[in-house]
Amino acid sequence: MVCEVINITLKGNNLHFTNYPNLVRMEIEVGKFIIDLYNGSADARGCWCPGGSYSNITACYAAREHAYHENYITSPELIMCVNGHPSLEKGAKIAKMKTIIIETGPDYRVNVKKLLAAINSNTACICLSAPS
Ligand SMILES: Cc1ncc(COP(=O)(O)O)c(C=O)c1O
Repeated sequence: MVCEVINITLKGNNLHFTNYPNLVRMEIEVGKFIIDLYNGSADARGCWCPGGSYSNITACYAAREHAYHENYITSPELIMCVNGHPSLEKGAKIAKMKTIIIETGPDYRVNVKKLLAAINSNTACICLSAPS
């Protein structure tokens, strides 16, 4: 069966979702599962990405668009912990968002006081990672 799947999927890139409607269905079903797992609201949505950096850059773009269309933020800012993946900073740059980097304490966890102090009316996205 694996060989059959590879034979089918090698003929095109599965990022072209119109070629693979079953992948779209799977993305929606798994997305719903994850939204439930995180107690997401009824209007929560998600999408699959083929890699970590691509996911972070896509998330930055989504955050910027959401901030603009839902909250009229025209100078969006991304707050991230210093030990967050560098692709977040790159994603923010691509999405033309200002990046605010928060230090960690000696335990490598985010300094919550500094994080809270950094939140303002331009905050479009807050990124934390497993170490922080
Ligand atoms: C949180 C996080 N973001 C992004 C990446 C980068 O992933 P990729 O190399 O697949 O782009 C990693 C990789 O370890 C990661 O841990």
